[in-house]
Amino acid sequence: MPVTQAREITPAARLENVRYAIRDLACIADEVARQGHKILPLNIGDPLNFDFQTPAHMIEAVYRAMRDGKNGYSSSSGIPQALEAIRGEAARKGISNIQDVFVTSGVSETVDICLAALLNPGDNLLTPCPDYPLYSAVLAKFEIGLNTYYLNEEDGWQPDLDDIKKKITPRTRGIVLINPNNPTGSVCTRAMLERIAELARQHNLIIFADEIYDKLIIDDDPHIAMAAVAPDLPVITFGGLSKNYLAPGWRIGWGIASGEASVIKPYLEGVNKLLRARLCANHPEQYAIKPALEGPQDHLVEVKRKLRSRRDLTMKWCAETARVSCVAPRGAFYAYPRIDIPEDDDVFVTELIRQKYVTVVHGSGFGQRPGTKHFRIVFLPDEKTLTAAYAAIGDFMRERYA
Ligand SMILES: Cc1ncc(COP(=O)(O)O)c(C=O)c1O
Repeated sequence: MPVTQAREITPAARLENVRYAIRDLACIADEVARQGHKILPLNIGDPLNFDFQTPAHMIEAVYRAMRDGKNGYSSSSGIPQALEAIRGEAARKGISNIQDVFVTSGVSETVDICLAALLNPGDNLLTPCPDYPLYSAVLAKFEIGLNTYYLNEEDGWQPDLDDIKKKITPRTRGIVLINPNNPTGSVCTRAMLERIAELARQHNLIIFADEIYDKLIIDDDPHIAMAAVAPDLPVITFGGLSKNYLAPGWRIGWGIASGEASVIKPYLEGVNKLLRARLCANHPEQYAIKPALEGPQDHLVEVKRKLRSRRDLTMKWCAETARVSCVAPRGAFYAYPRIDIPEDDDVFVTELIRQKYVTVVHGSGFGQRPGTKHFRIVFLPDEKTLTAAYAAIGDFMRERYA
């Protein structure tokens, strides 16, 4: 008689706190779509879902790599031509004192490896609130409690320095800075970067500078790299092809490690151990890194033109709509309006999907100051889609909160 396993297989308890609101919400949207409704998706930051295309010369490079048999494993830190191109890019960003460069399967894997290589039980890492939820999900997976610092809405969503100071404990090992920011679209000032660097210096912190959106500065003011402001400090700068180069499905990211060699080298040995343990990043796609970073950057002109127009349309709607206010985003493709409503923002977004088929993400999915409510808009869709979505959200709010 065949033996059947009767006891259910339960997931590890540590997954209890792993949340990723952006994708979790997509399940509700799928349910509504299955009922035959057309969803207006303002929730997922994938430009390829909209009128943006991966530059042709990058596709050509990956095709050529596959055709030429680059389909085996690569070395664990990445192919030499890509590493050299990333070093060149780092130099253009003003980063000196580079101690290592490595390619990963998206910045998501850079984050996973960099955090795994750093944190012991009982340690903590300062992460922004609101934050891109990958960080809290990875920390939950490693059973590291959250230690968040606020971004200050009254100060254009700049990091709240006083809060950072209050949150540093003897077990704080580092700080994450997302700049340009997801979900607020804010961009850090040089003065702010210098102040954060000073705190890191005083408290022996490593800085994880997530700069995945650094070429998507909407108003053409310069992006200042954290590592360029603090060449002496241990900084890992995260970058990749997903956003700046419109290829999120290729899963190509990287880390640039800079700072005093004697300080950062032992940690980098740990990072490299983990890089070797997972063999390598996607191999053929790595052949697009050099053409992307060193080839024509024309696509950025068009991308920024679209983002500027769509950001402005978004801000106009926010300004004209009762119960909504919003700090204007200066980078990336997200806006994070505040809403004054008599119910929780997760109820707001769930009902909005069910009643008007518009998907946005609730502020509580990113974290926010107690007593405040927000939702995140991805303003990648074209003007016609955004206009329809904003009309639907406006109707929903009037009908529900009149
Ligand atoms: C701030 C930030 N970091 C990292 C990622 C993940 O990037 P990747 O596609 O390279 O894994 C995202 C994706 O939305 C992001 O917004």
